[in-house]
Amino acid sequence: LNFHEYPDREALFLDLSNMLAGELRRALSEEDRATFSVPGGTTPGPVFDNLSGVGLDWGRVDVLLNDERWVPESSERSNTALVRGRLLTGRAAEARMIPLHREGAEPEEALDALAEAVEPALPIDVLLLGMGTDCHIASIFPGADRLDEALSARAPVLLPMRAPGVPEARITLSMRVLREAMSTHILITGAEKRAALEAARGADPAEKPVAAILNTAHVHWAE
Ligand code: 6PG
Repeated sequence: LNFHEYPDREALFLDLSNMLAGELRRALSEEDRATFSVPGGTTPGPVFDNLSGVGLDWGRVDVLLNDERWVPESSERSNTALVRGRLLTGRAAEARMIPLHREGAEPEEALDALAEAVEPALPIDVLLLGMGTDCHIASIFPGADRLDEALSARAPVLLPMRAPGVPEARITLSMRVLREAMSTHILITGAEKRAALEAARGADPAEKPVAAILNTAHVHWAE
């Protein structure tokens, strides 16, 4: 397990931001465009704040969400709104966002059109993941309705997802697409998530989805 422990959250957010920026710069030195896929949720905000002030050729970066909650962009649960407000601002305002949501429709109706826009940006160059205490990543939850499909080696790019205890429908990149990323970082904080992650080593991804990606991921943690 590539486990990186930091003295505090501030150090974690700063070092991780620098690492991600360095990887994006490296990708841009080798390709015309680079794809940066990011989580929503409550943890990554400070990393987005740091990155939005970093100098790199953002105009050649495609920003993608790992998953989205099927809520309007005006909702405080919208991951799209989080990324627009905290990452695609300042210097990073030049980056192009690939949408993972469309107002009005159900995820099933929008899926094909959204996947069509994601496909040319694959594989992901730099992948940042969050994780829940149930070991879900993106919206690949244990107990979700389309979990098997999402974990399959032949999975489509995007799947709609509904799971017990999750208040809204989701749309998520499949595990196949996540696993094909050139570089993978998992950002977690607090003792509970650390214990959950350690318990996921060697586990069945159908029970603890993060297990599917642990052999290649770098885990970044602070209390
Ligand atoms: C989402 C995320 C999800 C998130 C985890 C952790 O839309 O909910 O992309 O996978 O990373 O749920 O969320 P927290 O950082 O809020 O604990």
